[in-house]
Formats: sequence, C-alpha cells, structure tokens
Amino acid sequence: MPSISSSRLAQLDGVFATVFGARPARHFQAPGRVNLIGEHTDYNDGFVLPCAIDYQTLVAASSRADMTVRVVALDYDNQQDEFSLVSDIASHPTQLWSNYVRGVVKHLQLRGMQFKGADIAITGNVPQGAGLSSSASLEVAIGETFKQLYNLSMSMAEVAFNGQAAENQFVGCNCGIMDQMVSACGAQHHALLLDCRSYDTQLISMPTELSVMIINSNIKRGLVDSEYNTRRQQCEQAAEILGIKALRDISLTELQNQKALLPEVVYRRAHHVVSDSERTLLAANALRNNDIKTLSKLMAESHVSMRDDFEMTVAPIDYIVELLSEYLGEQGGIRMTGGGFGGCIVALMPHALVDGAKQLIAQHYHSKTGIKEDIYICKASNGAGELQA
Ligand code: GLA
Repeated sequence: MPSISSSRLAQLDGVFATVFGARPARHFQAPGRVNLIGEHTDYNDGFVLPCAIDYQTLVAASSRADMTVRVVALDYDNQQDEFSLVSDIASHPTQLWSNYVRGVVKHLQLRGMQFKGADIAITGNVPQGAGLSSSASLEVAIGETFKQLYNLSMSMAEVAFNGQAAENQFVGCNCGIMDQMVSACGAQHHALLLDCRSYDTQLISMPTELSVMIINSNIKRGLVDSEYNTRRQQCEQAAEILGIKALRDISLTELQNQKALLPEVVYRRAHHVVSDSERTLLAANALRNNDIKTLSKLMAESHVSMRDDFEMTVAPIDYIVELLSEYLGEQGGIRMTGGGFGGCIVALMPHALVDGAKQLIAQHYHSKTGIKEDIYICKASNGAGELQA
C-alpha cells in the first residue's frame, strides 16, 4: 500500500496534538519521483522525463499568530525544531532534516514572501537515500504548506525553484531542478517532459498496460555528493572548452566531430549527457505512441551510457539490469534511475510480467550480492497539493 495509510495520517495528527496541543488545521503532501530517462541532463539545460510517484511526504499544519515556526518529525523519533522568522534563519547544528525546513522558509523570505509562523508535523514514506527524491518532496511539501496557509502568490514552478534554492544554498547540494519540479507539477497517469532551459513542460500519458516497477538495490549512495559535484564540474568543463553555455547547445554529431578538443574522461561525460538528452525526447515520443519496443531500446542505451560514459552505476545494479533486460526483452524497459552510485532501478513492463520479475530478483540478487532488494510498484501521481478531509 504505497500511498500513506489512514493509520499513518492518524498518527501524524496524534503527534501534532500531543506536541502542539490542538488538532492540525490542514494537510499537504508532495510526492517523490522516479526518472524514466534523462539523467544528469537537468543541470546541463537538457531534457528529463520523470514522473511523480505515490510515495509522499505528508505534512499536518496550522498557522500561528506570531512569528515562530515549530516542527516535529515523526520519522526521526519525533525530534523537534523551533525557529523565529524575525531573526536570520541559520542552519540547525545537528538535525539535517531541520535544515530542509529552515532552508525552504528562509528562501521564501528571500523571495519577499510575507507570512507568519506555523506548527508543522511531518512524516513520509519516500525511501531515503534511494534516489527517489525524498529531500525534494520535503522541500516542496514545506513550500506548499506556507503557500497555502498564507495564500502566497507563487506558481507551483516557483515552489519548485524555491526548494532547489534551499537545497543548493542552504543544505549545500548542487542539484538540478528535475526533482522539485516534478514533485510540484507532476500529474496522475502522466510523466512530465521537462525542458530544463526554458522550463516548458509537457505531460506525456503513461501507457495503461505498463506497470512502473522500482527496484531499490539498497546500496546507499556512498560518495554521492562529491561524485555528483565532480560530474557536474566535468560537464561544465566540457561546455567551457567547447565554447558553449551548456551541453544543451551541442548536438551529438557536433560533439563527436569535436572529440579531439576534450580530455578523454570529459568527452565521455559530455557524450552521456548529450546522448541521454536526445534519447529523452525520443523516449517521450515512444511513450506517447505506446511504442514499447523503442522505449525498451532507449532505456537500455541510457543504462549503458550511464555505466560506461558517466560511470555512475555500481555492479549490483548493473547485475539486476542485465538480469531483467533479458527477461523483459522488447516488452519492457529497464535502467538505473536518479543521481547514481547506488539507489534504484526503474522498469516499465506489462502487468503480467511483474510477478516473474519479482521472482527472478528474489532468486538471484541476494545470493549474488548478499544484499536484499525492496520492490515498489508505483503509479504516476499528482504533484504537491492539499489533502482533502
Ligand atoms: C539528482 C539531482 C537531480 C538530477 C539527478 C540526475 O536526483 O537532484 O537534479 O541531476 O540527480 O539526473
């Protein structure tokens, strides 16, 4: 049961009442996401094709008459935080989760938004550290909470930009815009084709005959932040040498013609980005046309490109991808998803193949790697919003 259960909602309200002495006035949610294709393309101004999933961060909230924000996090042993909107909002010394809340609120202030305090309780079921954007969903959920409690004049895209600014400048991770944007703007039964330069979006309907399976390798993303930032620098280096603003500004053929200009590793990084961005547009078309065979081929190429050119996969993930691609053939697609160096795999497949895929992984993954997987069957879901009572 992926969507947060009613018993969890009751627990959220119970903790809210215990800590703050009243029932919450309203509830908001923001989803995690799975990216179908287009990896590390967002900060290169390229294309991505994620969908929001039915795993969410959930917030219970009431506005306050003063300038205090109080927060309790159910998933961190009911840890609490309290800060004032009047003095400069600084980092919390020990609670990382608090910094997502503080950062989002601070950046709302920096945007000139006018609001007072709030009491907030948070829970969620987006797996953390798995590449399914639990952080972005928290940032967007908090942004949405203040937007709605105080009728702030912000579009959903602005809620997303605000979350990204908090993550870049307050938390210190130099991520792109994909995760926050789809958490804010996703739509049920659809993937979101996002142009990360113009921020134009197109909803692409998901074929009803396909299940979205996410396989969590349960390999925590070890050095992810340093690796992520290194990859980003290499992409920027490529663009600089090529004399373009971003890798978005070169086609694959042009890049191949200019190969000699770039150090070997930098060329491979650029090759991944430029080719994956092109594949993303083709994949959006294939999805639109229910052309599963083409989708299957593009996802397979994307995985190889992440493995060999961007060097962001790990052996146990490559193993699952190989195992299942053989099983799915042209009937489905599979690739690693997210920032890389561990985390999850996404597979699209006919419903009838789901049980067999699960069995295959159960038979082989643990015995091969000593690690146990988790599998989530997801539905493409709406972006952030208020939960109706
Ligand atoms: C992380 C980042 C995104 C994006 C992906 C890779 O999820 O937060 O902005 O760069 O990695 O595609």
